Amino acid sequence: MSDLYFASSNAHKFEEVQRILSNLGVNITLFKTTLEEIQSDSLSKIAERKAIDAYTKVQKPVIVEDDGLFIDSLDGFPGPYSSYIYDTIGNKGIIRLLENIESRDAKFVAIIAYCSGDNDVQLFESSIPGKISSSIEKGGWGYDPIFIPAGESKTYANVPNKDRLSHRASSLKKFSDWFMHKH
Ligand code: IMP
Repeated sequence: MSDLYFASSNAHKFEEVQRILSNLGVNITLFKTTLEEIQSDSLSKIAERKAIDAYTKVQKPVIVEDDGLFIDSLDGFPGPYSSYIYDTIGNKGIIRLLENIESRDAKFVAIIAYCSGDNDVQLFESSIPGKISSSIEKGGWGYDPIFIPAGESKTYANVPNKDRLSHRASSLKKFSDWFMHKH
């Protein structure tokens, strides 16, 4: 057991976070819970509130992660609404929205929020450029089957070693650099 918790209801996310952080020398324990997700057009604000809510529940140092897929030709949509859009129109709906649109540029953003006290939150943000595929690949989870990271020919679902280049790995690296110095 470690004294750092990761609060989430998403088992896929936890699996990736745990693997990435353990390679960086940081151990985490899952606190499985559904966190308060405020409506906001700012991922940072959502992540900050989630971290405070998580701390209230765990009462130990805790990290949460908030992500967003931002599509250029849709003016950044679904961005902070990525979770809701995934649960409603899903990958099929995104592909349909981009039918006949030439520019498929997008970015995946991850914010790691750390809270070790009632209102003390540290944020670590990273963004990975890429594009939306023309069809849905098999495998992966969430938006994995439609997001092709820049420089790759396959989506997150099929790139060799997603951790090598993911938005999650990049923001966790920033977090661990700070966290290791702090301890
Ligand atoms: P949330 O911050 O977990 O609410 O993430 C927003 C949406 O992006 C959810 O639908 C997640 O499933 C999805 N998502 C976040 N990270 C990834 C990823 O690495 N691959 C695929 N989908 C992701």
